[in-house]
Amino acid sequence: MNQVFNTDILKGKVAFVTGGGTGITGGVARAFAEHGAKLAITSRKEENLAAMKKVVEDGGGECLTVAADVRDFEAVQAAVAQTIEHYGKIDIVINGAAGNFLCAADQLSPNGFGTVVDIDTKGTFNVCRASFDALKESKGQILNISATLHYLATPMQIHVSAAKAGVDAITRNLSVEWGRHGIRVNGIAPGPIEDTEGMKRLLMPEIKEKLTKKIPLQRFGRIEDIENAALFLASDAASYINGVTLVVDGGSWLLGTSLM
Ligand code: HXC
Repeated sequence: MNQVFNTDILKGKVAFVTGGGTGITGGVARAFAEHGAKLAITSRKEENLAAMKKVVEDGGGECLTVAADVRDFEAVQAAVAQTIEHYGKIDIVINGAAGNFLCAADQLSPNGFGTVVDIDTKGTFNVCRASFDALKESKGQILNISATLHYLATPMQIHVSAAKAGVDAITRNLSVEWGRHGIRVNGIAPGPIEDTEGMKRLLMPEIKEKLTKKIPLQRFGRIEDIENAALFLASDAASYINGVTLVVDGGSWLLGTSLM
């Protein structure tokens, strides 16, 4: 249970969360439920959704699950429609669905590059686009989960770097276009966060200790650090924050601390 904020700061809000079954975004979804939000979570994998639904419901929360691939706009539209039918509205959209693997640029196929861009960038657009009417109605908000990989350059991550740069562009552009409708659009760029699928895939264990010493705050991030940033951005305390991607990385990227 996250202890930093009052447990009712998202009371009455409905949050539609992609990639909300596991990892960083799973933690954010659970934290939102603990702080009063009703959840609709989507993922490609039904089993990831069922596990998170149990966690949320065991904690006294509400959780609708909808299996959908964010690359498929019609499936996303159907998931949004099902959420509105169930809860009557959507207040918060969190785009957390992401693809990742390590691959050198000279080994990566065009389809491998395009697959990650389709999941991260096009998927984010699809979800934002499909939920626009609902967010306009609720004067809601969008939170896009990004990364810091593209601030400098990250070897073996050209596809994810390009995809996340696109996500950040979506955050900025939509904040400008949709602010007039009362919709806030922000992002979070996590740095190295321990105990995540992404980090297991990306980080060889032998370099974790070495890397920790290079992080200005001398520790890896925790999923809870991202939960806290997300709770803040989603709360009324952030009601004048729009178009920002909040970096939560202990200051790592400023030193060019490479993950590879
Ligand atoms: C090279 C690969 C590959 C790999 C897939 N491809 N895995 N290329 N190395 N390890 C290529 C395939 O060869 C194929 O191209 C194309 O990508 C599509 O592969 P499929 O398996 O058909 O695609 P699909 O099943 O749709 O999804 C693939 C996937 C997905 C993107 C790899 O399974 C996935 O992302 N899983 C991981 C989810 C995850 O860990 N999410 C957390 C992200 S963490 P060809 O040319 O052969 O057809 C994150 C944080 C980043 O984003 C920041 C960290 C600090």
